[in-house]
Amino acid sequence: MKKLEDYVTSIPDFPEPGIIFRDVTTILQDADGLALAVDGVREMLKDVDYDVVVGPESRGFIFGVPVAYAEHKGFVPVRKQGKLPREVISADYELEYGKATIEMHRDSIKPGQKVVIIDDLIATGGTIEAIIGLIKEMGGEVVKICFIMELKGLNGREKLEGYDVESLIAYE
Ligand code: PRP
Ligand code: ADE
Repeated sequence: MKKLEDYVTSIPDFPEPGIIFRDVTTILQDADGLALAVDGVREMLKDVDYDVVVGPESRGFIFGVPVAYAEHKGFVPVRKQGKLPREVISADYELEYGKATIEMHRDSIKPGQKVVIIDDLIATGGTIEAIIGLIKEMGGEVVKICFIMELKGLNGREKLEGYDVESLIAYE
């Protein structure tokens, strides 16, 4: 039986020289791969008390929504700048290759809500650090952060110290 890591494709020098791109599309396009990923995250959350799932555009949507649906939780999207139609709060951050601004609707997290963040991958941790800041600004509490993959060499976990962080696959 194949393991989840067998479904990941690694592409050298994408999107720029020196980056090994860990492609999740080969997990998604296979029914068993997709089930392993979604069920793996659900297993991480089996003893966690939470109210809502937050996931960043775009790959965080892919894994966050099926987990939220299966566990009967709501899902709050974090979007790149300029996409959300109502009042937003924003944060700038840096990633492995580039810079970006993310936004959340200002009323998307209620004060006191317990939040789980789900994304496909942690590299530098910049994306999730920025999201934590926005959730805190709204009065939410991050109780768990789940990834399909973790790129350990970029030390992203250092930005998430004090948080409960788990990944299904770790690359050195
Ligand atoms: C990728 C990935 C994570 C983030 C990780 O998203 O899906 O969200 O980068 O990098 P970090 O830990 O250095 O912040 P990207 O912003 O490339 O957007 P995409 O999902 O739309 O491809
Ligand atoms: N996002 C940031 N770094 C990445 C990588 N090496 N592979 C896939 N997605 C990424």
